[in-house]
Amino acid sequence: MAKTNIAVLGAQWGDEGKGKIVDMLTPHFAAVARYQGGHNAGHTVYVQGTKFVLHLIPSGILHPGVACVIGNGVVVDPQALFKEVDELAAMGIGVDGRLRVSEKAHVILPYHRELDVLSEARRGERKIGTTSRGIGPAYEDKIGRRGIRVCDVLGDRAALAEEVRENVSARNQIIRETTLDWQPVFERLVADGERMRPWVGDVSLFLHQTMAAGGAIMFEGAQATLLDIDHGTYPFVTSSNASVGGICTGLGVPPRAIGGVLGVAKAYTTRVGEGPLPTELFGEIADRLRDTGQEYGASTGRPRRCGWYDAVVVRYSARINGLDAIALTKLDVLDDLAEVMICTGYRTDAGILTEFPADLRLLAGAEPVYERMPGWSSPTKGVTRFEELPAQAQRYIRRLEEVSGVGCAVISTGSDRAETIVRGDSIVAGWFAKS
Ligand code: IMP
Repeated sequence: MAKTNIAVLGAQWGDEGKGKIVDMLTPHFAAVARYQGGHNAGHTVYVQGTKFVLHLIPSGILHPGVACVIGNGVVVDPQALFKEVDELAAMGIGVDGRLRVSEKAHVILPYHRELDVLSEARRGERKIGTTSRGIGPAYEDKIGRRGIRVCDVLGDRAALAEEVRENVSARNQIIRETTLDWQPVFERLVADGERMRPWVGDVSLFLHQTMAAGGAIMFEGAQATLLDIDHGTYPFVTSSNASVGGICTGLGVPPRAIGGVLGVAKAYTTRVGEGPLPTELFGEIADRLRDTGQEYGASTGRPRRCGWYDAVVVRYSARINGLDAIALTKLDVLDDLAEVMICTGYRTDAGILTEFPADLRLLAGAEPVYERMPGWSSPTKGVTRFEELPAQAQRYIRRLEEVSGVGCAVISTGSDRAETIVRGDSIVAGWFAKS
């Protein structure tokens, strides 16, 4: 068992392939814990050719004996949770005794989804491109101090009835076209609570006890740094702290519990939804990346926007999260390209920017400053040793490391667990050597 608790989180705009990295590292940990987001996430894992897509439950659930934790910082849609539990059960994977849901997590109510869709419609051309899962409205209620927590659902029935009545009445004032009756919402919630009850508890206490007993924890990020509500491309972000800061607040663990931070970055860049993507490509190369990389949303099926690797973004993520290393994914997707590019800055009216700006207007009309490199035009798929990569691919990775300011400890060369390089001289190898 590893002794170091580590965080694995997205260094770009999500969909970096965190599911595979978390899944691969899980055997070293006693518990895997989600600290933010909800079922807007979609973590795809392939195990011996079988595809698993997890949205809410940490991908660690695929490993027997590992505890899987949903922290207070997560917003939980009970129906989505049950769907996932049932799908896992159909594959012979039981969650009882291993799944723990924080009593302080807020629940997504059925009308949060309606409010999400309405809010997007009202924004018109400035829409965010959300996953329409009700995530934003659930967090709005949490911050507005109107939210309903899992422990409220399991607590005093009269108090819960009152809260649901007030919340549904507020919903009815916003969506006037239809009137929702509070009672079925309340009854459903009570039934959902009973099904969740065996999994619910004090997650912070559980994690502290696990650590005290010598078990290590992996903190699993969802979405990514550039989608973080504070540090991302606001307002085109998700409604939670996906970057490292979310771990302490979203699980009730102190900063010193985080022993290492592994950022996951694709060998190129993608994004779903609206908002800036400075290295975005259109036309043939974008289509090739999308097709070869199967760049379609795991939650919504939307085609992802594709672009070259952006070192400004990853350097920024390295700073915000204190990345110790990068897990570079989908290198094999670039195999057939004659030339690859790395963005090192943005050419704007105000000069060349090398740090990611807060004011997105600075990015409008910005042109990426690129370094061109020859491609390797030979397969990297399935390679498990860095020295066995084509020389140009090795050069590309070394250059990414220089301009991003952080080393690539793990390199993924295919979707299966086995198709991975873990560099022996890296910090990641050091974390597990202590096992
Ligand atoms: P929301 O989280 O559904 O409110 O969506 C806000 C933004 O985050 C949109 O641009 C979504 O496409 C994006 N987003 C949310 N979850 C994910 C994810 O798991 N991967 C990539 N993008 C996501």
